[in-house]
Amino acid sequence: MNLLTDNPALYEAQFPDPDHKAARFVEDLVTRFHTKGTLLDIGSGTGRDAGYLAAQGFQVHGIDSSTAMVDHARAHHPNARFTVGDMRDFRLDQTFDVITCLDSAFLYCHTNADLHAFLDRCREHANPGALLIAEMRNGAYFLGNDIPDSVRSVIWEGIPYTSHTTLWVDHAAQLLRRRREWRWPGAESLVQHSAWRLLFPQELAMFLNLAGFDVVAMFDTPGPRTDPPWRPDAELGGSLSGDRLHLVARKQ
Ligand SMILES: C[S@@+](CC[C@H](N)C(=O)[O-])C[C@H]1O[C@@H](n2cnc3c(N)ncnc32)[C@H](O)[C@@H]1O
Repeated sequence: MNLLTDNPALYEAQFPDPDHKAARFVEDLVTRFHTKGTLLDIGSGTGRDAGYLAAQGFQVHGIDSSTAMVDHARAHHPNARFTVGDMRDFRLDQTFDVITCLDSAFLYCHTNADLHAFLDRCREHANPGALLIAEMRNGAYFLGNDIPDSVRSVIWEGIPYTSHTTLWVDHAAQLLRRRREWRWPGAESLVQHSAWRLLFPQELAMFLNLAGFDVVAMFDTPGPRTDPPWRPDAELGGSLSGDRLHLVARKQ
């Protein structure tokens, strides 16, 4: 059980993106690298990015392992198709010009075997020359910096929900682990655990090469969740020391 993925409307209230920054980031990168057409969004969540990109002329298919998320996406974004599936183990009857994996969904592949399986599924579903665009936490940052606890509050359906989040690095497993405690009036607190794989940039490039993709661009800023924010004419570069890692790769 996960409070946010089981309640997609709460997810969007907790992490609002009213200006479609993530989807516009994808659209700008696709325009820059001259590919448009069919798009597969892996870990599509509430479907907001898929829906936005479908409205811009892409033919979009979203896939997510959460049935609640897929139900929500189908109800709110009828201009895209959505399928329940695991990123490491899915088969669709189509191949795509662009594959996206946004907001660290890539890093739910915790083990090397998970990463190989996921990228093999990407290769099988990619047309020749297709782009893989991903945006995620940067292992090079999290393996080298202290991470402070954080507290966030959001009001959903009139009820204030407060989350206390603690992050720490499990060096042996190369995972960023999270404990999040939710509190809201009239209920016992709810504690949930989650984790993301931490990848160094060159390690990520190696996994991609082994799966048949070449890195076209890897950069830390700007991106859809950085300060300064993404700009379509941004220079793609940087020292890769920031907390976000942005990737554009092309199928060989
Ligand atoms: C942080 S959310 C990102 C949602 C969306 N891409 C966005 O940026 O708003 C991560 C999503 O990945 C999905 N997910 C987690 N593990 C997955 C897996 N093994 N296969 C497919 N989807 C997965 C979750 O259900 C969740 O909707």
